[in-house]
Amino acid sequence: MHPLVTTPASRSLTHEIISGGSGLVLALFMWGHVVLVGSILTGERGFDWMATFLEDYYIAQPTVAAIFILFLVHAVFAARKIPAQLRERKRIAQLAKGLSQSGREKVATRTEHSPFRPHVESMLWIWQVRTGMIMLVLGSFHLMLLGLDVFTPLFGEMAGIESQTTMARVGAGLWLPYAILLLCVEFHASVGLYRLAIKWGADLWLSRKAMHRIEQVIFWTILVVGGATLCVLAGWIDPPLAFLLEGGAS
Ligand code: HEM
Repeated sequence: MHPLVTTPASRSLTHEIISGGSGLVLALFMWGHVVLVGSILTGERGFDWMATFLEDYYIAQPTVAAIFILFLVHAVFAARKIPAQLRERKRIAQLAKGLSQSGREKVATRTEHSPFRPHVESMLWIWQVRTGMIMLVLGSFHLMLLGLDVFTPLFGEMAGIESQTTMARVGAGLWLPYAILLLCVEFHASVGLYRLAIKWGADLWLSRKAMHRIEQVIFWTILVVGGATLCVLAGWIDPPLAFLLEGGAS
């Protein structure tokens, strides 16, 4: 066969690598994001220092553009797996209803290898599709907002990302979409990484049970830090790590 002729199988593999690879990079980026936005836990001075540094050295602008592109590429390639036809979607909804009941029973087909009941693994997939759809809407909104923050100052006398604006808009109501986005991102990324690890053979070294534990530790750590970050941004609690920057020049 001519080397340029692609078979359905090789095309499938390419798509799998693109959706898995982009998902992995986005999940790793989100760990960095926890640290960057989490700088607010040390107070406004820490957050503003971080934002100014990333913008002055032109790190923030290309990062926002690259993450937005990767986010859309991931959505397009991962969405191929979502049944497009309404008939199939209805079937999925029916299935989800049944699964939410049956996952709680003891199932005869439960395997030794999986820490989940088989139906629970399927429910996780269905929720990954749902959280992905929510993220597509809320994440695009967030990335456009941050795009405006970091690109408009290039064209005039404007401040970029700064704690005052961020806290004002989160406190005024953006906390709600951000809280939903945070939950969806954490669920989607930790389950996604777990699936990716299994797909590419990580269960040859680690048991599924161990991988599930790791997934849970990542999920809860990032959710707690992200939740605390959101509470400080909304002005509900004082920055708990403010003592770290105490005594420095203001
Ligand atoms: C380079 C791209 C990104 C930058 C520069 C960025 C920056 C920020 C900033 C400055 C905030 C504080 C709130 C605000 O100013 O509106 C924030 C919050 C948040 N961002 Fe991003 N973000 C990026 C990408 C993403 C992506 C791809 C997601 C998920 C799809 C995301 C999810 C969140 C969430 C859930 C919050 C709420 C606060 C928290 O609990 O961490 N961000 N981000």
